[in-house]
Amino acid sequence: MSKPNKHKEPVAPQPESISRRVFTGLALGGVGICYAAAVGYPVYRYLMSPVEKAAEVAAVTEVVVKDAQKLPVGSGVMFKFGAEPCLLIRQAEDKWTAMSAKCTHLGCTVQHEPEQNRIVCACHGGVYDPETGGNISGPPPRPLSQLVVKEVTEEGVRVARN
Ligand code: FES
Repeated sequence: MSKPNKHKEPVAPQPESISRRVFTGLALGGVGICYAAAVGYPVYRYLMSPVEKAAEVAAVTEVVVKDAQKLPVGSGVMFKFGAEPCLLIRQAEDKWTAMSAKCTHLGCTVQHEPEQNRIVCACHGGVYDPETGGNISGPPPRPLSQLVVKEVTEEGVRVARN
């Protein structure tokens, strides 16, 4: 009768265990890359977006607000100037004003209230003058930045930066 071998002999690595190890390493690496991309991309967009938006806004110098010439007197329309929300208001038959719709307090988008003859920011109650964009009450520290209404055509109203 033979005695049991107390000393285990070293086991040579099997081809299966090596491929399993490699597979596990690749799988963990892949998961790590996906995790880094899932976390890193939103952070990148958050950090880069002000720069990209500024470049985009600077690149646009003029827009045509299509069909705005049909607006009734006293009414307004929101439009985009690059990435920036803006407001065009028909003050009288031949008088227009255009301004940024970005509140100068914390950047919320303001709304025109023609029946109250004012522009309001719902975030903290800021109120602006619809003709000048001047800040009337509430926390906004500055007037809304003005745009220039260049021309009214059959196509729309052409608005440009100051
Ligand atoms: S963001 Fe407009 S009042 Fe605060």
